[in-house]
Amino acid sequence: MNYIGSKLRLSSWIIEIITKEYQKIIPSKSLSETIFAELFAGTGIISRKLKPYTKQIITNDLEAYSYVLLKNYIGNTKEIPSERIISFMEELNNLSIKNQGNTKQNNFVYQNYCEGSGSKRLYFSDDNGKKIDAIRQKIECWKINKFVSQSEYYFLLASLLESADKVANTASVYGAFLKQLKKSAQKNLVLSPAHFSATQNQENQIFREDANTLIKKIKGDILYLDPPYNARQYGANYHLLNTIALYDNFEPKGKTGLREYERSKYCQKKEVETVFEELIKNADFKLIFLSYNNEGLMSLETIKKIMSKYGAYSLQKTEYQRFKADKDQNREHKANATMEYLHILRK
Ligand SMILES: C[S@@+](CC[C@H](N)C(=O)[O-])C[C@H]1O[C@@H](n2cnc3c(N)ncnc32)[C@H](O)[C@@H]1O
Repeated sequence: MNYIGSKLRLSSWIIEIITKEYQKIIPSKSLSETIFAELFAGTGIISRKLKPYTKQIITNDLEAYSYVLLKNYIGNTKEIPSERIISFMEELNNLSIKNQGNTKQNNFVYQNYCEGSGSKRLYFSDDNGKKIDAIRQKIECWKINKFVSQSEYYFLLASLLESADKVANTASVYGAFLKQLKKSAQKNLVLSPAHFSATQNQENQIFREDANTLIKKIKGDILYLDPPYNARQYGANYHLLNTIALYDNFEPKGKTGLREYERSKYCQKKEVETVFEELIKNADFKLIFLSYNNEGLMSLETIKKIMSKYGAYSLQKTEYQRFKADKDQNREHKANATMEYLHILRK
């Protein structure tokens, strides 16, 4: 998924530093004995990569779509038999959408986010909107009838979120839709399995809470923090993924069909320093890592000042080439390079 602030391309660099610092500071304990926590996990890429090497992972994010992804990629540890996966995909990909879309109640995505229903919104082609509705309803029906386990339920929901995102008619986020269906949005949605890595004897924990609330209830060895850097609220930018994840009934607002969303204090200049310091103060972890760049709401100096109050502070940096969505051309282009920092605190 093309996610704002995704650490996919930086993951090797981040993991290498985390591993080296950990071995330097706690040489007596191997990584396989550690509890690793990630409280602003988004797509969970850092936890996903560390999952096979740690004792336990604790992940969290405010958003419902992220919770679904994390329940699947991190919470799921036992393999789902491949015959079952194949039969799920076959049935869900072949659901009929012929009579789909006639009733407002059952076809929320088509009715509110596709043009053919008269919604005046063009987030998905009509067929893809109907297909999302049909698949989403079937998954819920399977859960209610206990045809799928909880683990399979989240695996299927995550598969739907990832596959729907690939055919969304947006420049990259859901804050707006494009006026014409772009090429990738004209393609038919194909549900593909959101594979997770199977691990043994791992009881991972997944939360959907404000990081500042959760930090008071958990403890462990390594804490990785990747809060939003700027004022762009994730709840607004990914509202449609939340809607597919929750599939609840509400009145979509305005031109973009926005839903109510929680506003993160990490996206507010006036609040961010206070909540960040509170988080660091309350963290019961030996080693804390914070990702942030040089264009964020908090300056390098501010972060350094706050973190240094609570232990031994150090810093690593790398130049990072960002990609920006180009609304006119419907594709991404290289934007200016930024400096990406990894702040380290030994508490
Ligand atoms: C920079 S993104 C994380 C990206 C992630 N590392 C990845 O690679 O996918 C920041 C995340 O913080 C979440 N978030 C914002 N405020 C939060 C809060 N107060 N508590 C928990 N999560 C929050 C957002 O929903 C978003 O997913």
